[in-house]
Amino acid sequence: MQMLDNHVVLVTGGGSGLGLGLARHFIGEGAQVAVMEISADKLADLKAEFGDDVLLVQGDVTRTEDLLACRQAVLDRFGRIDALVGAHGIFDGNIPLRDVPLDRVESLFDEVFHVDTLGYILAAKVFVDDLEKTGGAIVLTSSTAAYAADGGGLFYTAAKGAVRSVVNQLAFEFAPRVRVNGVAPSGIANSQLRGPRALGLENNKQSDIPKEDFESQFLTLALLPTLPTPEEYAPLYAYLASRANTTMTGQTIVADQGVFNRAVISNGAADRVGK
Ligand SMILES: NC(=O)c1ccc[n+]([C@@H]2O[C@H](COP(=O)([O-])OP(=O)(O)OC[C@H]3O[C@@H](n4cnc5c(N)ncnc54)[C@H](O)[C@@H]3O)[C@@H](O)[C@H]2O)c1
Repeated sequence: MQMLDNHVVLVTGGGSGLGLGLARHFIGEGAQVAVMEISADKLADLKAEFGDDVLLVQGDVTRTEDLLACRQAVLDRFGRIDALVGAHGIFDGNIPLRDVPLDRVESLFDEVFHVDTLGYILAAKVFVDDLEKTGGAIVLTSSTAAYAADGGGLFYTAAKGAVRSVVNQLAFEFAPRVRVNGVAPSGIANSQLRGPRALGLENNKQSDIPKEDFESQFLTLALLPTLPTPEEYAPLYAYLASRANTTMTGQTIVADQGVFNRAVISNGAADRVGK
């Protein structure tokens, strides 16, 4: 018996990075998987990897009509849904508010919050009645940026903080039939997370901004000094998406490699780097 036997799971943003790793892991755990993804190029790669085993739906999570079409495709193919796993997202470019041109603040806010917060809210709204029927689960992706400064700029940090609150409120509203939890990853190896169009950074990756500084700082602070792959986060998501989870709702698991439990007096993790 595998964790996700007899589970139909939709992953939003499953085209690369975290979501792709989740899709692969969920299949390995016995799930029937659907992926909703905005990028046609990434979907073509998924088609090459998964063939017809995974239901692939092109769509934008900020568009209600796309989510409704995705819902219809999931129900047409599988007749049910047991878990909605949100893994889509964009970055804000990590620009300090002081340096964001005043005439871009509103468009930057709208873009980042539409994808990173509203996309999760709309998806939950569109699928809640179907998840009620199966006693299903919602798992959303926050970030350690929601818990401490400097995990991104203001807009990403605030949007990921909002996801924590969305988890709290939806768990309350959807109980007892639908469990709602979150995961707050720290860094993710192989991420393609792109920057915002509002700042002309849509072709930049978060991992480009400044990669060496981030990695050395992260690995120095982390008690577990490796940058996890999507597949390493996947078992947490699989558990929260599954019916095995009968004890948690309204929680966001901080998967931080021990960064927040860092040394205060000694060199702590810095001494461990290289061991
Ligand atoms: N990369 C990190 O270090 C990190 C850390 C903590 C949390 N996260 C979060 O993890 C999640 C996955 O990010 P990732 O690092 O794997 O990045 P990624 O870019 O590799 O994956 C995100 C996917 O979402 C898709 N997407 C973007 N906008 C969309 C939209 N409007 N509709 C549908 N799909 C859309 C992208 O095309 C991409 O395939 C995001 O929510 C991100 O904020 C990332």
